Order: sequence, then structure tokens, then C-alpha cells
Amino acid sequence: MKLAHGQPPIARLDSVWNGRDRELLNAMFSFYAPRAQRIVDVCCNVRRMWGRWASNAVGYDIDPEVRPDVVCSWHALPDADHTVDVLVYDPPHLPLAAASARSLAPFAKRYGLAHSIRADNVAELHAPMLREARRVLRTDGLIFAKIKDYIHNHRYQWNLELFNANVRAVGLTPCDLIVKRDPAGGTLKSGRWRRAYHARNVHCFWVVVRNGRCEPRFLPSLERGHSRR
Ligand SMILES: C[S@@+](CC[C@H](N)C(=O)[O-])C[C@H]1O[C@@H](n2cnc3c(N)ncnc32)[C@H](O)[C@@H]1O
Repeated sequence: MKLAHGQPPIARLDSVWNGRDRELLNAMFSFYAPRAQRIVDVCCNVRRMWGRWASNAVGYDIDPEVRPDVVCSWHALPDADHTVDVLVYDPPHLPLAAASARSLAPFAKRYGLAHSIRADNVAELHAPMLREARRVLRTDGLIFAKIKDYIHNHRYQWNLELFNANVRAVGLTPCDLIVKRDPAGGTLKSGRWRRAYHARNVHCFWVVVRNGRCEPRFLPSLERGHSRR
């Protein structure tokens, strides 16, 4: 989409974010979706990454113990077709096999590892969610997906590539990427990493996926002053 002559330039979000998910999500909503009405977090857990500004986001989770608004799986979302503006997806980021029995317990609940899969990577989680996203998202609706690459079984697991391949396969468009580095991140620590010949993994990706072409029909961020706080 071209900017009409005389329109102000867009105050753009940087592609690298130093800080926490909470502030980044706030900035992403302000930039990509300031007018979103129906916001659904399909695996909300205890909503650590949401601030108070997001009280209009509806939280789903498969685990009733985290007390979501609706207990359900992203395999079958309760929403009617084409009714959701933004769907947020922060799945378990490691396969079940990545955790020892001892380390699994504290992380099972917090990060949903008990609901992950036994494999070398978590790619299988994505397709069912994306099929449902395609059904429930409005035209130009968005997914904000938190995706993490990681080392498992002595191999780098290219989760971002696998996720984007699934996005394209269902007919959605991966549109944008923000690399997040959280100074307080990297909670999953093990002494084994001291001997690993890989860069210390301190980042994750937030992928912006659109149900439509990359550029929306209307550029919401041209209207300044939208803060969701
Ligand atoms: C990394 S945690 C999400 C953390 C959350 N974003 C927060 O801020 O607290 C992943 C969540 O995905 C949930 N989950 C796993 N498989 C699911 C599925 N098929 N449908 C819905 N939720 C699922 C887990 O129960 C877990 O709560």
C-alpha cells in the first residue's frame, strides 16, 4: 500500500526489542492493531505476559488449573468464523522429551510442557492452531506468535522456519518479525549448557501473521496516539 502524498510517515516499531513480552505486546497492539476488538489468547496460562491494559483479551487454555476464561484446545476454538481480530499464541516452546523428569515438574505448569509433544521439536503443535486461526480470523486479522528456536538432541531446532512453513501451508501470510531479547530471560538453565558449543540462546521471535496480504487494506498506525495502557 502506498502512502498518499502529504501523509505523515509511520512511527515504526523496531525489529529488535530489548525487554519483556508485556511491553512488547503493548507496542505491537499499538502499532499493528490499535482498533482490535476481539482479542483471543489461545493458550493464556496465568497471563504473565499481559498487562492490565489487555483486560479485554479473552484467555483460553487446555489446562483448567490455570483458570482460563474458557478451557479448550486450539484444535477446536469456540469462536465463530471470521470474528477474531487478533489471536495470540505462546505455545510450550520445548518438546516434552527436552525436559528430564526432575526439571519437568516446575516447568510443566508454568510453560505448559506437560501439554507439549514427544519429538525433537514442537513443530507439530502449530498446524492445528493455524487451521483454526484461518477459520476464526477476520480478513486482515492477525496472529501474534511467540516462537523460539532452541538446541535439542545436539541439533539446532529451526522452529521459526517450521512455523512459517506451516503458516504458508494453511494460506496465511507471515508478515513481520520482531526479535526479543529479555535481559531477565533464560530461566530454563542446566549445568549441561556450560559444555555446549552453541551460542547462548537469549532471544525469541514474535512473528506477525496476517489473514490476507502482508499490507493491510488500511494502515491503522497512521492514526497516532493509540496506547492501550
Ligand atoms: C508457554 S505457556 C503460555 C504462557 C502465557 N503466555 C503467560 O503469559 O503466562 C503455554 C500454554 O499452552 C497451553 N497449551 C498447550 N497445548 C494447548 C492446546 N492444544 N490448546 C490450548 N492450550 C494449550 C499450556 O497449558 C500452557 O498453559
